[in-house]
Amino acid sequence: MRDTIILMQHHTSVRNFMPEPLPESVKNQLVSAAQSGSSSNFIQATSIIEVTDLKTREKIAKISNSDAYVKQSGAFFVFIADLYRQANILKQAQLPLDGIQNMESLLVGVVDTAIAGENMAIAAESLDLGICFIGGIRNEMDSIKELLGLPKYTVSLFGMTVGIPVQKNEIKPRLPKKNISFKNRYEPSVAVNLDSYNQQTRVYYANRSTAPQNTDWSHKMLHFFAEPKRPAVAEFLKKQGFSLE
Ligand SMILES: Cc1cc2nc3c(=O)[nH]c(=O)nc-3n(C[C@H](O)[C@H](O)[C@H](O)COP(=O)(O)O)c2cc1C
Repeated sequence: MRDTIILMQHHTSVRNFMPEPLPESVKNQLVSAAQSGSSSNFIQATSIIEVTDLKTREKIAKISNSDAYVKQSGAFFVFIADLYRQANILKQAQLPLDGIQNMESLLVGVVDTAIAGENMAIAAESLDLGICFIGGIRNEMDSIKELLGLPKYTVSLFGMTVGIPVQKNEIKPRLPKKNISFKNRYEPSVAVNLDSYNQQTRVYYANRSTAPQNTDWSHKMLHFFAEPKRPAVAEFLKKQGFSLE
């Protein structure tokens, strides 16, 4: 148990992999670990597509702006929030689909799928493999849908590169526990008191071995949220059958 926590605390995303493909047995273990997480009401609203076709992988690499490591890793998986199976069951019973289409069901599918993704990540790291989540696949959700043949009531949420790390980054310092962990009630003034974290992250960003920067976490957030990202996502979700209500 203690080893698992230490493993989790040593997580860093890997973006530089050996080109060797992972053995099928390892990939099976990873998918099995992903499937073993908790699932809201046991709806198991996740599918995982391993992309082995090189042309498809190259296209996804370009779409996701994560070219090198999506192209070159031991395996590349796409995680799909998936209510297609449930939609099919309801259709066969000739029942309306509004129970599947609403915002709550979409959230449930997203949460289930995030749990599956992190389960795979931890399983991979326990085998000394490296991973990187690839949210960049949401840059062009329509193209990913076409490439992977996704039906309605499915949403491609993120990819995951897995493989043998060539290089591992320094661990990124997380928000101090006092800022994120409360007892009984949320504490707004504590949550936003980020001075010490900004000092810590300024040192981290200035000194890290890959892409050092003169910034801190609050400035990163300012920059990141300066304008809305991926405005096409809501429209895509509607096309996939979700009402967003
Ligand atoms: C849902 C999700 C999507 C992500 N998408 C990308 C991505 O498209 N490209 C990338 O290089 N890293 C991506 N990351 C990795 C994050 O940048 C990384 O987890 C974060 O900077 C913290 O660094 P660490 O994982 O090394 O601790 C993603 C992470 C998550 C959880």
